[in-house]
Amino acid sequence: MTMKFLISRKTLPLLGSLFALGLSQANAQDRAITYTEDIAAILFEKCSSCHNPDGIGPMSLLSYEEVRPWAPLISYKVERREMPPWHLDLTVGIQDYKNDVSLSDTQVAKVVNWVENGAPQGDPALMPAQPELPNVGEWQLSSLLGEPNFVVKSPPYNVAANAQDQWWVRNTTFEGLIDKPRYVRATELKGSYPLGVKVLHHGHATLISFDENGNRVSGPVGRQGVGKGGDMFPEGTGMLIYPNGTINWNLHYFPINEVVYQEQAEAAVWLYPEDYEPEFQTRGEQFFAADSGPGGLWANDLVLPPNSIKSLQGVRVLSRPALITSFRPHMHMRGKAQSLEAVYPDGRREMLARVDKYDHSWQINYEFAEDVAPLLPAGTMLMITSTWDNTADNPHNPDHRQWVVFGQRGVDEMSHLWLGITYLNEDQFEQLKAKRSAKLTAANGD
Ligand code: HEC
Repeated sequence: MTMKFLISRKTLPLLGSLFALGLSQANAQDRAITYTEDIAAILFEKCSSCHNPDGIGPMSLLSYEEVRPWAPLISYKVERREMPPWHLDLTVGIQDYKNDVSLSDTQVAKVVNWVENGAPQGDPALMPAQPELPNVGEWQLSSLLGEPNFVVKSPPYNVAANAQDQWWVRNTTFEGLIDKPRYVRATELKGSYPLGVKVLHHGHATLISFDENGNRVSGPVGRQGVGKGGDMFPEGTGMLIYPNGTINWNLHYFPINEVVYQEQAEAAVWLYPEDYEPEFQTRGEQFFAADSGPGGLWANDLVLPPNSIKSLQGVRVLSRPALITSFRPHMHMRGKAQSLEAVYPDGRREMLARVDKYDHSWQINYEFAEDVAPLLPAGTMLMITSTWDNTADNPHNPDHRQWVVFGQRGVDEMSHLWLGITYLNEDQFEQLKAKRSAKLTAANGD
């Protein structure tokens, strides 16, 4: 029996430890890979949170009977790394993320190998216990933070059963929920349970208010996208909000073949304790485009001829030092790849992150692990490169014979990036830098 390994930097240590296991590993490979002994545990760990009767996955994958008909498609999606949804280019950029749901290369090899050998069930007595499933009617962050301090709701909207994707943009008044300025610790946005969570493709709830001096301040009190969870700022980082304002709801629905009446999206907000002043202030996730003309990046340049592949690139210079905490690419159906690079003031250029299997069905937020989150000096140039594939080779392309231009609908195109960003002053930047190099020195045992 042969095992296929896709070797990447990430798996080299893992392979090393497998070889170190020597004999026992060789024995493990001598027997056939079966559902009950090998595969069920992988699917429970990495797929069942969505592929259960209540989840957003189109089919449940909790038993052999449920899994068997899908085995060939599972192998295909897993080998191409389209499932679980984690569409990063694994060959460049930062690979260490807080919310990494991807399979290890060994797990991919096991699934592929199992299907190549006819997807046998194996001994039913070896079936692992059923996994604990998330309750999609509850706030994900409440397991970490308890109940939110307050919840706000969008105005109701009827989502049609069969139609093009739909936008719902409205304002609601924000008042009476806090009685003085407070710092936000975390936010989460979701459709209502049970159908709203299935139709809300992505959405933003933005609080717009005015500070003591009458200056307009805005920040997200909820951002959702398929495959994206809530947003929790690192301990000691907060976003200041004021008692009176307006919430702008910008919700994008995808019909699911069933009318969803009076759908109301909900945003939950967790606050820091009263009178707590966090060391770092943020305005949350921000829209990043090189040239934000009307409607966003490259609105005028974005013209894709029929049967074409095209890339566009834009830059933004950081006027202050910054810590980048997350990266969320946004394009539409012809989107194929998007990357974020830093060009440092000294001219050095570094690829920070790149998605090479972009799929508009997903709005994944890649959250950098704390020790590797890009810490960038003032003057760094952020370079965003987007690539579109308007040929028949792109399986998400509804029609490669069309000219495609900028627009809101999924069949039109867009390009921008949502970045989790905390601006720092020079002292904070130097402190964080020193803290990191101290950690690195300790880890290297010098
Ligand atoms: C975050 C939720 C989520 C996770 C985790 C997830 N899936 Fe999915 N899966 C979906 C959704 C939603 C779709 C339909 C949209 C799409 O194809 O992207 C889907 C589609 C699929 C399909 C294609 C079905 C079809 O009819 O085209 C397969 C096969 C699949 N998933 C297998 C898996 C496997 C195997 C895993 C774990 C290794 C997994 N998924 C993990 C949500 C998820």
